[in-house]
Amino acid sequence: MNNLMSLFLLSTATTAHQKKVAASYKYACQQKQLLRTPTCAQPNRETATTPPQAPITKVPMVSSSELAMLNTLYQADEATDIPASTGPFELPPLEYNYNALEPYIDEATMRVHHDGHHRTYVNNLNAALSRYPEFYAYTLEELLLFSDRLPSDIQTQVINNAGGHYNHSLTWKLIGPPTNSEPTGQLKTAIETQFGTFDNFKAALTLAALSVFGSGYAWLILNPYGRLQIVTTGNQTTPIPLRGIPLLPIDVWEHAYYLKHQNKRGNYISDFFNVINWDRLGERYDAALASLNLPTSTTSQ
Ligand SMILES: [Fe+2]
Repeated sequence: MNNLMSLFLLSTATTAHQKKVAASYKYACQQKQLLRTPTCAQPNRETATTPPQAPITKVPMVSSSELAMLNTLYQADEATDIPASTGPFELPPLEYNYNALEPYIDEATMRVHHDGHHRTYVNNLNAALSRYPEFYAYTLEELLLFSDRLPSDIQTQVINNAGGHYNHSLTWKLIGPPTNSEPTGQLKTAIETQFGTFDNFKAALTLAALSVFGSGYAWLILNPYGRLQIVTTGNQTTPIPLRGIPLLPIDVWEHAYYLKHQNKRGNYISDFFNVINWDRLGERYDAALASLNLPTSTTSQ
């Protein structure tokens, strides 16, 4: 049905019903034209053709290690009862007890988060790489930085799971039993220089963490110019491809806090600040800054 046809219908309509039908055709036609639909003709059952089908994606063969991993997952009775996989990567043990972050991060969350979620990222990464052992020599950072070298059938799986392994491994190192401490040394100076006060810095990082839609991270990174920067990433993406040096991730996936904090992400972020190991974060900042080899004048501003 085109505009001329709908005008013809309108002009020849005699009954109220016919006029109503003709008017509705005209309206539908106008809407289609607004949407740049090439024609307003109604589809004809006899001439209508089958719409083009999406190309069928060829699913790669499942490797024996992936099958073994699936079997172990189905056999696991608990979320934390997932066996280790074989491969180049291993789940790093926590350097503290599961309940050491109480009352801010609860023991049950730590068990599921570390033994369940993190181990699954490690297992999935090992399973993906088992197809191409030539990548066994790559570090986590190299897998993420040079992901374009990966075969297409494992690229997404490796990016997601290498990211999950990297982000969680870094998180466990930078949190610990609450000590009621704050940044010191060069990190304290840099925070106060760039954010004014520690409270301003906390507010900026909190706002970033709250702004993540869905699952992801807020990050404190050191950019290539030696400046602190707060960024966010979705899912298990890391700032590594941005050439920033990740200093501190705040995991805002619901699995990081839902058992204790439910939907109150803000309360979780507030509690998270109490378990940050500021001494270790300061050491990481010092090392990252030194690795940039910048002139002193650019790092003191
Ligand atoms: Fe997580």
